[in-house]
Amino acid sequence: MSLLHAENACVCKHGLRKQTAIRCLSTDAYNEIQTVKHPSKPDWNNLSNAEYYDEFPIDTLQGYAEKGGLASGIDVELIFPRIAHTTSLLEIGACYGRIVDHLLRLGYKGHIDALERGRKFSALLAEKYSEMNISVINQDLAKLTTKTKYDAILWMWSGISDFAENEQQPIVNKLYGLLKPNGIAIIETFSHTQSPVNAKTDLCQHYTITGKNSSVHGFIPTPEAMKLFATNAGFSNIQYLPYKTTENRPRNIYLLTKEP
Ligand SMILES: C[S@@+](CC[C@H](N)C(=O)[O-])C[C@H]1O[C@@H](n2cnc3c(N)ncnc32)[C@H](O)[C@@H]1O
Repeated sequence: MSLLHAENACVCKHGLRKQTAIRCLSTDAYNEIQTVKHPSKPDWNNLSNAEYYDEFPIDTLQGYAEKGGLASGIDVELIFPRIAHTTSLLEIGACYGRIVDHLLRLGYKGHIDALERGRKFSALLAEKYSEMNISVINQDLAKLTTKTKYDAILWMWSGISDFAENEQQPIVNKLYGLLKPNGIAIIETFSHTQSPVNAKTDLCQHYTITGKNSSVHGFIPTPEAMKLFATNAGFSNIQYLPYKTTENRPRNIYLLTKEP
């Protein structure tokens, strides 16, 4: 990947512009990054976001995927060459099956474990993929205890930002522990410079999406923070791939490889 220096401005709801100099695309550039501020402890966490997903209608979530430009599976197409050869894959937060559908469309032949905390989504996935080489695990990622190790982990649609800032390092450590040597964890996020299409954003990187009776809070990590989380967890190769969806929305992909 080539070196690209980009000046990004994060625009808050209050009109404040926080300049963030983002060094992207190159592992060398990543190596220059030294500091990340100490994570704050907010008044929400990943568990308190569960109610939102439990109540949220599937067609509304599908509508968000359309609006944000993910419905076509552009994110899966981008990373597919990196995982096509693998034989075991964990997908985190499988929801209504968007990622699994695109993996199958692209011809993925390995075994997929689709991890999903919500009961409604897990039941839907179990029925939808009952005839296939896919296991649905109805469990919370943070509580997942398994001896299974995977060749690849996919955590797309900014699943990591459903975890509060202070929860993100431990959860990246968890991914590392779930991988085989040489395994790859692929984490996709909203752009840290722009709020999600359906969000009411109060502060840079922080967002709130309001449902009928509940809300989901999020915190979007910067590339610098992701670099630090991955390094601390033990990943030996960290790549950053900014991209744009079919609706021209900027988003981030991180490819974290475990040492042989
Ligand atoms: C925005 S959806 C992502 C959908 C899917 N990954 C995609 O890219 O289309 C987030 C999903 O993650 C699930 N989720 C959130 N926290 C979780 C956790 N701790 N463990 C397992 N699933 C979780 C939610 O229930 C929801 O279905």
